[in-house]
Amino acid sequence: MLTLRSVACIAAMLAVSVPAAAQNKPPPKAPAIAQTCSACHGLKGISTTKDSPSLAGQPDIFTQYQLVFMRDGQRPPGVMAGIVKTLTDENIRDLGAYYAALPPPPPFAKADPVDADKANAVMGPRRCANCHKDDFSGQGETGRLAGQRPDYLIKALKDFRSGARRGRGMGAMMEVSVTLEDQDITLIAHYLAAKP
Ligand code: HEC
Ligand code: HEC
Repeated sequence: MLTLRSVACIAAMLAVSVPAAAQNKPPPKAPAIAQTCSACHGLKGISTTKDSPSLAGQPDIFTQYQLVFMRDGQRPPGVMAGIVKTLTDENIRDLGAYYAALPPPPPFAKADPVDADKANAVMGPRRCANCHKDDFSGQGETGRLAGQRPDYLIKALKDFRSGARRGRGMGAMMEVSVTLEDQDITLIAHYLAAKP
């Protein structure tokens, strides 16, 4: 029999089980500083600039970590050297949430066609999908790769391979990239760039 008490109980359970995404929250407003970022990272975080990554759809924590690494010098900041020094912790939190809420980039239109079997032969044994997820949308501190610009993916993988960028996760990226040949890197970069 359904008592008043059990009805209240079910109602309470439903209330806590509604996932955050189902609440239709509007995306956070762009922090004022994001205007400066858009010069290189594109409007709405989708880059049209060579070597500048798209930021839209990156996991919140991933973006925050990368900004902290660049501010602290653990990751070479390149052209961002000046701007990243001006970011406060609050700016970094706002930017992480903002880019995570934007729709991710569509498949990169100018990616070279790649044989999926060949790309999987390179990535499978290195378990890329274990950390980056099967759809390469990333999670937590692990970046989104699907739809990313291939020129940037190539640079990132070469930077891990050379040790210029060390990354977190006990150097996982250095370990998986050290045995990659240049042609493997080009192959997987174009494969991932074309992913929806
Ligand atoms: C002058 C161009 C330029 C501007 C302005 C700029 N960036 Fe960047 N940003 C880059 C480039 C180029 C890289 C790639 C660096 C590398 O090769 O490792 C990068 C990398 C990043 C990354 C790492 C992304 C990843 O996938 O690893 C984040 C996060 C980022 N920028 C955020 C920002 C934010 C936030 C701002 C504004 C406060 C900003 N950038 C302003 C050019 C720029
Ligand atoms: C054990 C977990 C793990 C595995 C396996 C792994 N990655 Fe990563 N990957 C990470 C983490 C964590 C980061 C962020 C590194 C950092 O902190 O800078 C990352 C970053 C990257 C980036 C830079 C993304 C960006 O936007 O800057 C690329 C590209 C990448 N991984 C590609 C790959 C590929 C290709 C493979 C397989 C050959 C692979 N990863 C395997 C955990 C992993």
